[in-house]
Amino acid sequence: MSVTVRVPAKVNVQLAVGAARPDGFHDLANVFLAVGLYDEVTATASPDGPRVTCAGPDAGQVPLDGTNLAVRAALALAERHGRSPDVHLHIAKDIPVAGGMAGGSADGAAALVACDALWGTNASREELLGICAELGSDVPFSLVGGAALGTGRGELLRPLEVGGTFHWVFATAHRGLSTPAVFREFDRLGEGTRIPEPVASQDLIDALAKGDADALAAAVSNDLQPAALSLFPELAGALAAGRAAGALAALVSGSGPTTAFLARDAETAARIADDLRATATCRTARTATGPVPGATVVSGAP
Ligand code: C5P
Repeated sequence: MSVTVRVPAKVNVQLAVGAARPDGFHDLANVFLAVGLYDEVTATASPDGPRVTCAGPDAGQVPLDGTNLAVRAALALAERHGRSPDVHLHIAKDIPVAGGMAGGSADGAAALVACDALWGTNASREELLGICAELGSDVPFSLVGGAALGTGRGELLRPLEVGGTFHWVFATAHRGLSTPAVFREFDRLGEGTRIPEPVASQDLIDALAKGDADALAAAVSNDLQPAALSLFPELAGALAAGRAAGALAALVSGSGPTTAFLARDAETAARIADDLRATATCRTARTATGPVPGATVVSGAP
């Protein structure tokens, strides 16, 4: 008995960050777009669970202990439904690790959906979203997919309409960045200044609704970008190379260090990816489109 769930990466087309809250988190106006780079999580009944394995080029960087969000998702669902977490979770990893594309969050959402199907717990959407929010700020969006505005610490979602397909290039970096470290650097850079309340850009929401790549390019923003660049100055080279290759917009994805480039169409995206790969500014460059659906069962049934 096993169930496989496919789950996408995300890019933040807007990431407005407020001042640190008393709980250490930051209020956000976070516009997520799910893009077609995927992990697959397979849940198989196993008496010695929960345990997790991972395969893929970056598998060595994925923690396989109780900090893995897939394991935490299985434990949370099992506990709520009074059952033992007897599951083996296998992650086929294609989303960059520690890259600012919510790869770990994606695995948490996928494991939750997979265990729910495998165990027949039939949790409601609300219950699943509640567990996701406990697991992490980006996990609810990995469940939902599409495009959404995340407020609070990013977990309170309002779905957004998208009127077309956007073409992206993602350049992965030679090393990862820690999300808490990037938020700490944001705090350090902002010391002594007044940090405004984060507000979603109506121009950006309209650009998504129209499917207008030029308008989206003019509206994208990421308040974590200066912090990511401060910790990882070489990212400026990747951003400049993507712009020179014809990207409509170039930005750091989330807390980075993956850089994201918006392209006018599929051909331009492929050319930008080729150009980026020919520079020493990134490890590799991938194309993907968005929006795409969130965590989805693709095979298996209990
Ligand atoms: O929610 P999640 O566990 O993914 O967050 C990882 C870290 O990122 C937090 O521990 C915190 O340091 C930072 N963070 C934040 N404000 C947010 C989301 C994340 O400061 N809204």
